[in-house]
Amino acid sequence: MSNIGSYEERCKDSNWSIAKRELSYKEGGRLNIGYYCSDRNCELGLGNKIALIWESFSGEVKKYTFQDLKIYSNSFAHLLKEKLGLKNGERIVIFMDKIPELYFSFLGILKMGGIVVPLFSAFGEESLLTRLQDCKASAVLTTRKLVPRIRKIKDKLPDLRHVVVMSEDEDIPVKEREMAFSFGQAPRIKSFECYPSTPETPSVLHYTSGTTGQPKGALHVHSSILSQYLTTKWVLDLRPDDIYWCTADPGWVTGTSYGIIGPWSLGITQVVLDGGFIPEKWYGLIQKHKITVWYSAPTAIRMLMKAGKEIVKKYDLSSLRHLCSVGEPLNPEAVIWSEEAYGLPFHDTWWQTETGCILISNYPGMEIKPGSMGKPFPGIKAAVLSHDFEPITKENKPGLLALRPPWPSMFRTYWNNPTGYESKFKNGWYITGDRSSIDEDGYFWFMGRDDDVINVAGHLVGPFEIESVLLEHQAVAESAAIGKPDPINMEVVKAFVALKPGFESSDELELEIMNFIRKKLSSIAMPQEIEFVDSLPKTRSGKIMRRVLRAQERGEPIGDISTLEND
Ligand code: WT7
Repeated sequence: MSNIGSYEERCKDSNWSIAKRELSYKEGGRLNIGYYCSDRNCELGLGNKIALIWESFSGEVKKYTFQDLKIYSNSFAHLLKEKLGLKNGERIVIFMDKIPELYFSFLGILKMGGIVVPLFSAFGEESLLTRLQDCKASAVLTTRKLVPRIRKIKDKLPDLRHVVVMSEDEDIPVKEREMAFSFGQAPRIKSFECYPSTPETPSVLHYTSGTTGQPKGALHVHSSILSQYLTTKWVLDLRPDDIYWCTADPGWVTGTSYGIIGPWSLGITQVVLDGGFIPEKWYGLIQKHKITVWYSAPTAIRMLMKAGKEIVKKYDLSSLRHLCSVGEPLNPEAVIWSEEAYGLPFHDTWWQTETGCILISNYPGMEIKPGSMGKPFPGIKAAVLSHDFEPITKENKPGLLALRPPWPSMFRTYWNNPTGYESKFKNGWYITGDRSSIDEDGYFWFMGRDDDVINVAGHLVGPFEIESVLLEHQAVAESAAIGKPDPINMEVVKAFVALKPGFESSDELELEIMNFIRKKLSSIAMPQEIEFVDSLPKTRSGKIMRRVLRAQERGEPIGDISTLEND
C-alpha cells in the first residue's frame, strides 16, 4: 500500500489540502473541473496518453488521448458559448447513451461555466419533463435516437432554447430550436479560455429521488474535484498505469464522480462500455483491455454470481488488481464469491448523490469484514444518531447514519428547494436517510433506509414519482408504490392500485399499467407487480401509509397504526 498509506496513518493527518497541493491549486485561484480533466493533463506531459477506451455494444473500439479530450471538449465549449450564446450558470442537459460525445460535452460545459445536468438515457418523457422544468434547462445535448422524446415535451419547455443533436453528419434534417452537431466535422479548437470558476461555482446538478415530491436536484460545485481526486486515489487506489473501468452511467452520480472527474483528475486511462449487462461481454472487456481496477455495483455482481464460476475460467482476468462496489448493500456472500472467482474481494463503498464522493469504505489494505460498508474516509466524521439526533455510543445499536459537514463535494443545495435542503441537517449533522450501526472496531453496517425511497439495482426511485404517473392512467383511482425485496435487484417496484368505478382488474390491465410507467418514467421505475386493491391504508390526514403495505409485503409486524383511517 505504499502508494496511499495505511488507513491508520492517513487518519492522523488527512485533510483536503493534500488534494489542493497535488492538483497545484492555490487558495483564491480559479478552479475548473473541465480544465483539470483535460488541459492540465496535457500540460503535465500526458497529452499522448490514452484517456478513453470506448467500446460500443457491437464491439467497435475507439481510443482518445488527453489531447483529444482537450480539443473535443473545447469544441463543445466553443459551440455552446460562441455559437449558441449560452452563458455561465445556465443549465445544460446531457441526454445521451454512453457515447464519446457524452464525455467530451460534460467537460466542455464545465469549461464554459455551464451547469451540467446529466440525465439517464432510459428516461421517458415524464421523467425528462419534471427535471427539465425544475432546472429551467436552456439547452439539451442529445442524439438522433433520443431526440424524439425531447420533441414530445418541447412545447412545455419555454426556457429550452437549443436542442443539439449529435450526428456523424451535420446535414441531417432538424426541427425548430434544433441543430445537428458532429464533433468530427466541427473546427478543432486548440485552446479555449475556460470560464474563471472558483471553488464555489456550480458545476453539476444531479437529480435524485426523495421520499416526498418530485426528484430533487443536488447542486455540486467545482471544488468537488478535491474530494473526488483524493477518494479516487486512496479508495479506488488508482495509479498512473492503471486501466480503470467504472460500470456506472453518468446519468447517475457514480458515473460522473468516478466515471469522469475522479479518474481524469488523476490522468488515468479509463474504459467505457456503451451497452448493457452480458457476463461474456464484461469478462471479454476486462480481458481485451487488461483492466486493472473495476468499480461496479452489487446487482451486477449478483448477476455475475448467477452466471457462475465456470464462465470466469474461460477468460484471462489476471490483469485485475482492485475491485470496488457501490449503490446497495453488498452481501457478504458476494465478497466471498468474488475472492473465490477472481482471487480478489470486492471492497464495498458507501456514499450518495448528495455527498458527491465516497465517505465510508473498505479502504485498501484494511481488513474487510464481509457485509460491512467499512470505515469513514480519513478526515470524515460519521455517526449513528438516535431519533433526537444525538450520537448513539453503544456498539452495534442501529440509528440514523449521519455525517459532519463540510467536505468539498458536499452538495450546496437542492435546486429550487432550500427547505428540502435545510431539512437534511440537524444539530450540525447531515442526515443521510439511511440507518446503520457501528461495531466494536468502528466498522459501519448498513441496516436499511429510513424513508420510503426504493432502491432498484442501485438506482433510487421515489414512490411519489411513480404514484403521480399511475394517477395519470385512466383506470387508476388511488395508488401506492413500495420496494419489494428481490434476490438480484435488491428491490423491485410493487404498486398497489385501486381502480376507478367501471374498471375491472385483469392481467391485461396490469401489463398495460406497467408499460405506461415504463414509457413515461423508465424501466427502472416500472412496477414488476401490481396488486389491485379496494382501498389503501391511510392516515387520518389522508396520507398513504406505504409503511403498512411494506410490512405486509415482507411479513413483518405492522407497528403503530393508531393513526390509520380505515382500521
Ligand atoms: C443511497 C444513495 C453514490 C452511489 C450511488 C447511489 C444506498 C449506496 C451503499 C452501500 C448500502 C448503499 C443508500 C444511499 N447505498 N451505497 N455501499 N451499502 N447502501 O447514489 O442514488 O444517491 O443513492 O444508495 O441507501 O443512501 P444515490
